[in-house]
Amino acid sequence: MTRILGIETSCDETAAAIVENGRTVRSSIVLSQIDIHQKFGGVVPEVAARAHLQVIDAIVDEALQKAGFTLKDIDAIAITQGPGLIGALLVGIAYAKGLAFASGIPLVPVNHVEAHVHGALLGLTQPTEELFPCLALVVSGGHSNIYYMKSPTEFELMAYSIDDACGESFDKVAKLFGLGYPGGPVIEKLAREGDAKAFPMPRMMEQKDKLQFSYSGLKTYMVNLRNKQVMSEQDVKNAAAAFQEEALGQLVRKLETASQLRKARCLLVAGGVAANQRFRELVASRLKLSTHFPQLSYCGDNAAMIAALAYHHFDKAENHEAFHRLDWDAFSRYQFV
Ligand code: KG4
Ligand code: ZN
Repeated sequence: MTRILGIETSCDETAAAIVENGRTVRSSIVLSQIDIHQKFGGVVPEVAARAHLQVIDAIVDEALQKAGFTLKDIDAIAITQGPGLIGALLVGIAYAKGLAFASGIPLVPVNHVEAHVHGALLGLTQPTEELFPCLALVVSGGHSNIYYMKSPTEFELMAYSIDDACGESFDKVAKLFGLGYPGGPVIEKLAREGDAKAFPMPRMMEQKDKLQFSYSGLKTYMVNLRNKQVMSEQDVKNAAAAFQEEALGQLVRKLETASQLRKARCLLVAGGVAANQRFRELVASRLKLSTHFPQLSYCGDNAAMIAALAYHHFDKAENHEAFHRLDWDAFSRYQFV
């Protein structure tokens, strides 16, 4: 059995978790900074980094305590290497390197976007061989990526957004209507009382054979819609429903194409937007693949997913020498290969 302490500080959550064998969560602590950033209408990078710095040690302690372990019980530490806000990443990485150096515990750097996928595997009991190869969709505030995965560590990028990410478009549209940050949950709530057909929406990236996503056109359409007329409360609910339907519909259409192109045993959906209940309904009704969504607490940023992906890197390594090296750097942007 391999027990990993995961640490995550890439954006506005300070998180630590203990996960066994990449599936069993023994503790998961997530401290959100939403209250701090809300008044600015979005995340302020330097404020985020400083807030991580104040609490990271206490959050790691809490994760260990809650699971009833000390560092002596930990086989490896996992830390988000990127992508994310550079200052926020550096706080977590410097902390994790210090902890690894002082304790002699190996340190596994992890890609945050890829780790999201493993949020959908937490708690599952099916053997890994029965789940792979699979398709995986990560829909978060920064990314809308479809991967074809032959194994838990092989991420073949099939689709990504050529402009805004899906979650980002929810945030921007919510801001436009003065609904606050983050936008996803509030738009979902309003949409439940709205009529999605009240406002016809443009269909973005309609070409079936093209796998790329695009969300900036939809956002611009919403800006024009908003500027064209005075909207009643019900109009705003209808606009939220219409926007949500097209934003999520685009994800479903591209998943349909991806599932025709590659043979997969299942579909894993992860990231903040995976919390959206309407999206879960659409996926269930339109896709034939058996689908796994994360529990709601593992859709958004958390450290359990970081520890879960690290387990597979650690497990498949011939020896653990590389995980005692501390001379690697953070990366702030997604590296498309
Ligand atoms: O994965 P996440 O917590 O952070 C990133 O790595 O980006 O995703 C946050 C994003 C935000 O854009 C937020 O508006 C969106 O996920 N989101 C949602 C919902 N809950 C969060 N979007 C649509 N519906 C939701 N219920
Ligand atoms: Zn994330």
